[in-house]
Amino acid sequence: MKKPIIYATRQLPGLNEWAKLNGQYTLEVNKEERNLTYAELNDAAEKADALITVLSDNIDKDFLRKNQHLHAVANYAVGFNNIDVEEAKRLGVAIGNTPDVLTEATAETALILQLMLARRIPVAVNAVKSGDWTAWEPSKFNGFELSGKTLGIIGFGRIGQVFAQKMWSLYKCPIVVYPRESAKKIETDFPFRVVEKEEFFNLVDIVSLHCPKTPETENLINSEFIKSMKKPFFFINTSRGDCHNEEALLKGLIEKKLLGVGLDVTNPEPTSRKSPLLKEENCIVLPHIGSATSETRKKMTLMCLENITSAFRKVPLPFAVYDPFKI
Ligand code: DGY
Repeated sequence: MKKPIIYATRQLPGLNEWAKLNGQYTLEVNKEERNLTYAELNDAAEKADALITVLSDNIDKDFLRKNQHLHAVANYAVGFNNIDVEEAKRLGVAIGNTPDVLTEATAETALILQLMLARRIPVAVNAVKSGDWTAWEPSKFNGFELSGKTLGIIGFGRIGQVFAQKMWSLYKCPIVVYPRESAKKIETDFPFRVVEKEEFFNLVDIVSLHCPKTPETENLINSEFIKSMKKPFFFINTSRGDCHNEEALLKGLIEKKLLGVGLDVTNPEPTSRKSPLLKEENCIVLPHIGSATSETRKKMTLMCLENITSAFRKVPLPFAVYDPFKI
């Protein structure tokens, strides 16, 4: 009997080790150190029985229609905005993701960005590197204390809650959540309030984005949003770059309405080396490393493989976005 073919669109931590122990499957991997083009992705999918995709692979309607023979598409991310899930449902193609396992790493990335911005670490590091540290400076590198500053969370899911929890335990930051009915029912071991937009705009010193990309959140942090904020504020985005507008962020930094911008995600992604944001001293841009710890990335690989092997056995996926086998 022909062995089922699993095609991974990138080499992933732990993948080859798994393949050695699971000889009943044929594992094929994109060997280039780059993402596949749409055409290459289609070619690979045609010969495969299931795919492990990364968040930049465009699994759209046409792709799914052409490749409805796939048993599963296991996305190597918690987010799945690169996949047309509605079409997958119509066609019965199982879709999986990697929730929970990257919550801590991603929340930590948001915290790192916030701490680095608050203490102006990039400015200080650059000063040392460029020979601009000539004396002990009483006023040159002074940052901003986080204690008691109001944190505004947009997207109060797992990652948003863990980031809020960290900021509460470290700095006792009052936490307010951007209006969303479902957030009111969440139980946490730290205090938070779901407020109306007006109150959010009035109170918040730090806005941190933890929402998926949806029509409602796309371009949410734009000029109008920035204008509505009453105080100068920090902006952190570890969710999806499509949720912010980079021209608006740049203008906000130049006009000092934004105290600092910390992005682990950009719009577009990857960002251009020429992006004017990179020249701003109070802006930090990371190359989408929210989940990038070896431990997390290995677990994500195994979760994708568990999803795929479940789909081959026609049993419910352990980490499903859409599960045709769910009873
Ligand atoms: C995700 O899993 O959606 C993250 O953005 C990847 O780090």
